[in-house]
Amino acid sequence: MQILKTGLCAAVILTTFSTASFADEAAIKARQGLMRIYAQNLAILGGMAKGTTEYNKETASAAAARLLQAATFDQNVMWPQGSDNVAMAGKTAAKPELWSTFPAVMESSKKFVDAAEAMNTAAGTDLAALQGAMGAVGASCAGCHKPYRQK
Ligand code: HEC
Repeated sequence: MQILKTGLCAAVILTTFSTASFADEAAIKARQGLMRIYAQNLAILGGMAKGTTEYNKETASAAAARLLQAATFDQNVMWPQGSDNVAMAGKTAAKPELWSTFPAVMESSKKFVDAAEAMNTAAGTDLAALQGAMGAVGASCAGCHKPYRQK
């Protein structure tokens, strides 16, 4: 009976532990997926800005709209405390500073949302407007990656 109790106790601890880390891993995958949505749509816009693909109003507008949707998606369950690259080495590139540098992180995020909003207005206007909005979007990605993402 004592053995069973101990075993049960260990099982409860293990379950609790693995549930927590499973939730953290799910959060990490979700945010990485969201980042890839940013990147996919930025690449569509970037291709047109550089002239590697022909400018198309509808395609550009749709990409910018998806970028803005992704930028404003509720990320509340994607960044749990303890899901940084020290606590979860090998699973994530997010540095602990992301959780300890407030309000700088929020400002970084706001710059990106503002740039995505400007792009959403510009992308369907014409190629020159799209090109004009590219720099701020790219800079806002880099502005957060430099301090908060492991190379
Ligand atoms: C407010 C901060 C912030 C902004 C803004 C931001 N990123 Fe990220 N990005 C991160 C962090 C942190 C990670 C690491 C996430 C992880 O591994 O858990 C990351 C990871 C990524 C990844 C790798 C995803 C993977 O599969 O591991 C890509 C691609 C990416 N970002 C693209 C972008 C693009 C493109 C933009 C701008 C349009 C952008 N990000 C804006 C913080 C940001």
